[in-house]
Amino acid sequence: MSAVATSPAATHAPLLDVRNLSKSFGENRSLLQLATGKPARVLQAVRNVSLAVRPGETLGVVGESGCGKSTLGRCIAGLYDPSAGEVLWQGKPLSAIGDRKAASRQIQMIFQDPYSSLNPRMSVEQTLEEVLKAHGLVEGGKARSERVEELLLTVGLPPRLKDRLPHALSGGQRQRVSIARALAVEPQLIVADEPVSALDASVQAQIINLFEELRDKFGIAFIFIAHDLNVVRHISHRIAVMYLGEVVELAEADALFDAPRHPYTKALLSAIPFPDPDRRTAAAGLEGELPDPLNPPAGCSFSTRCAWVEEACRARRPDLEQYSEGHLVRCRRMYEIA
Ligand SMILES: Nc1ncnc2c1ncn2[C@@H]1O[C@H](COP(=O)(O)OP(=O)(O)OP(=O)(O)O)[C@@H](O)[C@H]1O
Ligand SMILES: [Mg+2]
Repeated sequence: MSAVATSPAATHAPLLDVRNLSKSFGENRSLLQLATGKPARVLQAVRNVSLAVRPGETLGVVGESGCGKSTLGRCIAGLYDPSAGEVLWQGKPLSAIGDRKAASRQIQMIFQDPYSSLNPRMSVEQTLEEVLKAHGLVEGGKARSERVEELLLTVGLPPRLKDRLPHALSGGQRQRVSIARALAVEPQLIVADEPVSALDASVQAQIINLFEELRDKFGIAFIFIAHDLNVVRHISHRIAVMYLGEVVELAEADALFDAPRHPYTKALLSAIPFPDPDRRTAAAGLEGELPDPLNPPAGCSFSTRCAWVEEACRARRPDLEQYSEGHLVRCRRMYEIA
């Protein structure tokens, strides 16, 4: 049975509370643009996102390339400062947590490409020992090497691999090392940014199983970022769907799959080949290109690609509103569309 049925109860206070978070980037202007004095345009990579994660909960975040998933993840992990809004960690603003090192211990980030996030000249053991030393976690060489072994076993790697350099490991093994490195500091939340996108399908499933094991064993909460709804379905208690920097739908995983209300979610789902033809939705597939993020549509950001668009959709940007308990949708036609 997947863990979806046993969602960590809403009785828990949130571990992480993201409130109206926005992150903008200035445009990289060419010399010509600088010379002609054109004002720099601002790209809103994340627009007014609010979401919470409870202890032990896995929140999936999905959406097409460029919709702001990584930028949101980096703001949450404290790697970017938000342009507006705030990230509360256990009720306190992340920016106000004086000891950044202590804060960074509790929120760890894992990236798509472990090859670029691991030092190519450091063995697996050195990589893990470095983290333990940096955080003053385990004193003494013997205790440290025991802890390294324990971490490797926890992520399903044989300790004999500890002397290997990253290039002598497979993609899946490298990702396990980066997971071990994150675990070394005993985090409460792991932001995993497309952690399986670069891996073969069979290895993807193994790594996703590992995340589930870690959640069950250590009660770690996860934000699991992916392009593909299928990847996050079984691991996520709740799923947030992003489009052009905004959350357009947020719901329990089952509700999102069984009764999606946003046309974009429906389009994403209709692209998923279900083994059971009765599960196929009649939604129009996803057509057209993502709008230029430097020049987003007026009104609803999905209006340029939406099969249900009406004039009013282009006139005013819809708010994220409650459709039912725990199910939020940013669409003014959420009750009408089938
Ligand atoms: N450092 C940056 N400077 C300028 N623009 C950026 C920067 N990082 C991201 N962007 C822009 O912000 C938007 C969101 O990017 P982001 O990487 O967060 O999307 P994503 O959903 O993670 O995409 P992908 O699925 O390709 O990883 C994109 O338009 C991107 O070009
Ligand atoms: Mg990304």
